[in-house]
Amino acid sequence: MTDFPFSFVLPQPNVIPSRVDNHIVRNLSSLKGQFLDQDTYNEMLSKDDSLIYEVYEVKRPEIEGEFLMGISIVHPGKVGKEFYMTKGHYHTVIDTAEIYYCMRGEGFMVMETPEGETCVEPLSPGSVLYVPPRWAHRSICTSRQEDLVTFFAYPGNAGHDYGTIEKLGFRKLVLDGEKGIEIVDNPRFG
Ligand code: F6R
Ligand code: ZN
Repeated sequence: MTDFPFSFVLPQPNVIPSRVDNHIVRNLSSLKGQFLDQDTYNEMLSKDDSLIYEVYEVKRPEIEGEFLMGISIVHPGKVGKEFYMTKGHYHTVIDTAEIYYCMRGEGFMVMETPEGETCVEPLSPGSVLYVPPRWAHRSICTSRQEDLVTFFAYPGNAGHDYGTIEKLGFRKLVLDGEKGIEIVDNPRFG
């Protein structure tokens, strides 16, 4: 049996897809151990488990040959000097790529490979980012007021490996420094 083609709309300016099968909400508590300033993290969490990012997914079978699509929205904010960000992950099937299209906001995609290569690409409205196979990825919102909104598409069989990144985080951090945005080495990597 074949599927029937379908279309949906990413309306401007509110960006929520006209077709949504799943809405994921990630709060501060789901980023435990990821922010550099753990004291500020714990202090913030003791007051409020703030909303950090959301994902609106269009479901398809999670098999090779399919694409999974959706919208990722990272809200503005910081923990200490570090901007709000997604957990970030490798794909379980590591040789699967992903495409992102930035619809709104300002930010970065921080990426790295298991071999230790790193790449930090800026995201702004209209940018298309290709994340090649083997690159872990995390999106970071650096705007003070505006959400970072990206459309993504990736292979149905990719899966998500969060555990590797949960150990030490990414090798590069994006901070709100004295002279503006700073991309620095994560001190947890020796
Ligand atoms: C899927 C993908 C995105 C992210 C989303 C949330 O492979 O990369 O859809 O899932 O930006 O980030 P994570 O999954 O890292 O919490
Ligand atoms: Zn991914």
